[in-house]
Amino acid sequence: MKSNHASRRRLLQGMAGAAALVALPRAAYAADPVKIGLILPMTGPFASTGKQISAACRLYLQRNGDTVAGRKVELILKDDTGLAPETTKRIAQELVVQDKVTVLAGFGLTPLAFAAAPVATEAKVPMIVMAAGTQVIPQRSPFIVRTGFTLPQTTSPIAGWAAKNRIKRVFTLVTDYAPGLDAEKTFHGKFKELGGEIVESVRTPLRNPDYGPFLQRAKDSKADALFVFVPSGEGLAVMKQFDERGLKQAGMKMIGPGDVVDDDLLESMGASAAGIITSFHYSAAHESPENRAYVDAMTKANPGMRPNFHSVGGWDGMHVIYEALRKAPNGTGEQLVEAMKGMKWTSPRGPMMIDPATRDVVQTIYLREVKIVNGQPWNIEFDKVENVGPGGV
Ligand code: DHB
Repeated sequence: MKSNHASRRRLLQGMAGAAALVALPRAAYAADPVKIGLILPMTGPFASTGKQISAACRLYLQRNGDTVAGRKVELILKDDTGLAPETTKRIAQELVVQDKVTVLAGFGLTPLAFAAAPVATEAKVPMIVMAAGTQVIPQRSPFIVRTGFTLPQTTSPIAGWAAKNRIKRVFTLVTDYAPGLDAEKTFHGKFKELGGEIVESVRTPLRNPDYGPFLQRAKDSKADALFVFVPSGEGLAVMKQFDERGLKQAGMKMIGPGDVVDDDLLESMGASAAGIITSFHYSAAHESPENRAYVDAMTKANPGMRPNFHSVGGWDGMHVIYEALRKAPNGTGEQLVEAMKGMKWTSPRGPMMIDPATRDVVQTIYLREVKIVNGQPWNIEFDKVENVGPGGV
């Protein structure tokens, strides 16, 4: 009798396990907490992305309360170390099956977002991409909504600026993975269309890059400008070689989307960053009441940290989650994604919209120049293009 009982219990446990693996969607009840599974690189070469986004998400909770639509909000932060897509995928599966998260969020790099997309689709769980910027990402799952940016969006305005500002010949350097190829394709396409010439283009490895030899080639090319895309965390290493090899002294201007002059690293770059011109969706120096309050709160909560563009991807990701829950308090994953489509709000970076067709961001892209203000380098905005969609201008 007793052993029969035990085997039945084991069977039932097995069945419960199998059911959990299928992760059938069900409506949430008012008392259920909202669990946000935040997957970020908290260690490794891209740890600054994780630090910035997790700090912004925590701040959002502090400022907006840890309850929304009567449900308690829990952040479950997991470190995927940034370089292994299989790890990101496994963590996403565990968060869905074991923790039964309401939403998956984070995703510091494109290959990691690609790896998690099928998990979101299978589990019917919204997946908020706060950082990764390759344009095609939201096409990988109908459950993806992006709150960061895309590379075509941030890159196309600088191509227009360069063509209009006596830059005729450009050497391009991008990191050799999907967002780098998006940046390269966008810049080449638009700059050539406007009459510019690409003198040479190089791609640097994502893992352990040595920028020295590439920057020497750039210098030897005698181009008018060097276009750079590297992911957040890499800018300082690029700047160091740009400096050491005397490209600025040789009269070469650095341009690109703003990842290379990331606010997280800009202070460490010091005066040598002055004069770099980029187009981007966020600068910590952006003048608005919302941004002043944001930078102030982020710096107070995280002494020594200047909030960067990835942080606002996290902040706005939390906003989208909160607002979707207000519209559909006990909504299924599908209903939450539906509630996010077409959402409009004012971010520290400016006006935002989630395009209902692509589930991607529409936002203002600013042209900025690094200037030294009160002894520190800042990305100072001098022009803007409004309502830029995920495909750029
Ligand atoms: C990606 C990551 C970054 O840190 C960045 O600045 C741009 C793109 C990415 O992997 O998609």
